[in-house]
Amino acid sequence: MTDQLPPGPAMPGWVQAALMVQGPKFPRYCHRRYGNRFTLRLGRFGTMVYLADPADIRDVLHGDESAFHAGEANAPVLGRILGPTSVLVTDEQMHSRQRRRLAGPFHGQTVERLLPRMKAIAAADVAQWPVGEPIQALPHMRSVTLEVILQTVVGLTGEQRLAPMRRALRTLAELDLLMMAQFPFPRLGRLWPWRRLEESKRQADALLFAEIARSRRATDLHERADVLAALIRHREPDGTAMTDSEVRDQIVTLLLAGHETTATGLAWALERLVRNPDVLEKATDAARRGDGTYIDAVVAETLRCRPVVPEVRRVVAQDFNLGPFLIPAGAVIDASVALVHLSSRQYADPDCFDPQRFVGRRPDPAIWFPFGGGNRRHLGAAFAATEMRVVLSEILATVDLVPTAARPERARVRHVTLAPHAGALVIALRHSGDH
Ligand code: HEM
Repeated sequence: MTDQLPPGPAMPGWVQAALMVQGPKFPRYCHRRYGNRFTLRLGRFGTMVYLADPADIRDVLHGDESAFHAGEANAPVLGRILGPTSVLVTDEQMHSRQRRRLAGPFHGQTVERLLPRMKAIAAADVAQWPVGEPIQALPHMRSVTLEVILQTVVGLTGEQRLAPMRRALRTLAELDLLMMAQFPFPRLGRLWPWRRLEESKRQADALLFAEIARSRRATDLHERADVLAALIRHREPDGTAMTDSEVRDQIVTLLLAGHETTATGLAWALERLVRNPDVLEKATDAARRGDGTYIDAVVAETLRCRPVVPEVRRVVAQDFNLGPFLIPAGAVIDASVALVHLSSRQYADPDCFDPQRFVGRRPDPAIWFPFGGGNRRHLGAAFAATEMRVVLSEILATVDLVPTAARPERARVRHVTLAPHAGALVIALRHSGDH
């Protein structure tokens, strides 16, 4: 069956796996060498068929959910932390059920109610930025997005409840490649530093289950705008409620899916802005006038040219004909967001950071899909877009960012994301209006 897979490099699996963790260069090389369909054989990490043609990708992402499993693709990496009922690691019926339950709290209008909280959290962080010194924006953005999740998703208030949860969730939420090495090699989990992950999970679970119990008893449950409260209020048509474990799995999923991704997107936006002074000036002006349209275009363009999640994965559940190839059941397909977004066939001057492409224009989902697609398109689209607009606007309205002629930061593989290798270094001066 292997000879019916698309062509790909012949080097040993461990070499291909080592090249993959270096960042986006290797898939780009393979794309140039083998075209829009190629196969990477990554030894213990499996065989992956990469797709870079929008029509092929549409067939997969919008194909029958029983034929392409996203949950099965995500489970080996994330299943142990997220839990068996997580919307991210389940498929078909179980997935649809969890997804339906989460749809309400992630509706655009519900998210709008969270906007003042997001703005206040961003403002508190920017107020602490040192003036005139280089800082890494990424850790700041992580603090902001973690706080947004704690307050608007878990619904925590008051430092007494926030502080222990913040500590417990940080290790879970900020998995790096070293920590993730225990997923293909489970024995590592018994050793330090990997043991830390299991300990953090235990601590986080204890706090989360206590929070769920507390919320079930709360008298203000019906007035609360956070996601945890909405999941506890949820009833199936036959009147049954979600179990504590189901609620826990979805909350941890939202934390992992929504924290590092959004922080990385924000860090890339700042990295791009300080290297493009004209765009920085326009964005700063828009933020100070309260014009969200241009900021939305900056966000869309950042996610185009620096897609945080560079590929979207599916396990083929039934043999699948891909042109002259036959992809056997069990193979993994990687729909490459990065290769489509940076292709000169799809975008004029694709390496240029130009938000103007998206001003007053909705991105075409066939060639712009940083949030994946089909029935698995990420649930937090409205949430992430609102959060990025609000946080970026707050930063640009508060401080003057200093443009730089430094080389662009390289993309480094972290978690399932690609992050700026130096953490998005920026220098901020106080907004001149404050002097
Ligand atoms: C810039 C920020 C973000 C990016 C780039 C991003 C990207 C993605 C991608 C690529 C997927 C996989 C889609 C697929 O398989 O087709 C996904 C799934 C998901 N995302 Fe996001 N995400 C971001 C922020 C968020 C936020 C803030 C939340 C919620 C708080 C969230 C919740 C989810 C959930 C629940 C899923 C699973 C959906 C499913 O499998 O049905 N994401 N995201």
